[in-house]
Amino acid sequence: MLSQQQLKQNAALKAVEYVLPLLTPETILGVGTGSTADLFIDALAPHQQRFRGAASSSERTSARLNALGIRVFDLNQVESMPVYVDGADEIDGRLNMIKGGGGALTREKIVASVAERFVCIVDDSKLVDRLGMFPLPVEVIPMALSSVARRLQQMGGQPRERADFITDNGCRILDVSGLSIEDPAKLESAINDIPGVVTCGLFAISGADVALVSGQNGVRELHRS
Ligand code: A5P
Repeated sequence: MLSQQQLKQNAALKAVEYVLPLLTPETILGVGTGSTADLFIDALAPHQQRFRGAASSSERTSARLNALGIRVFDLNQVESMPVYVDGADEIDGRLNMIKGGGGALTREKIVASVAERFVCIVDDSKLVDRLGMFPLPVEVIPMALSSVARRLQQMGGQPRERADFITDNGCRILDVSGLSIEDPAKLESAINDIPGVVTCGLFAISGADVALVSGQNGVRELHRS
């Protein structure tokens, strides 16, 4: 029986297999944040001569890329990238996701928006029929924490401020449980419209294009429907 760590490792290795044919000496790759993304970075490092560098979704990921010798580019210097690779906290069969358990949701969404393809790498415990068991992370401008929390309560959620946590953007996170996520893209839009919200952790308006889902019998490739 493979452990969750081994399953994540297998997803990361499959992602490296997936990206290798897309690389040229000019390629900048988008790289996500989290324990699965870390394994991807480690597996990618031996191939660093085959591409130019990476655009990173967090200070944590930048530090890991730099430590392994992969050059990190400011996103403002990057016009296009073939692929963005990242994990998720939950993903459904249509490849809508909840992300932000590590607090990097805003930069993840920004870097992903520049990439042609989002490849999500997960172990199969993350694959769900319906999003919402994992509390939805919402990044908030500090002065708006209370007003945003009230609005989220009106939407049926129970927001809780993530303790002792400041994002790379100097903001705070509300983790919202109890939301009924029937239409992920509609809810993403509604939460993003609340004044003071920087980003919510629903990735549904633009979800993943490909998911590499690692289970006991291997890694399945799913495509967005
Ligand atoms: C980081 O903010 C998150 O979006 C991560 O991508 C997500 O939490 C998945 O992390 P793990 O790979 O550690 O489960």
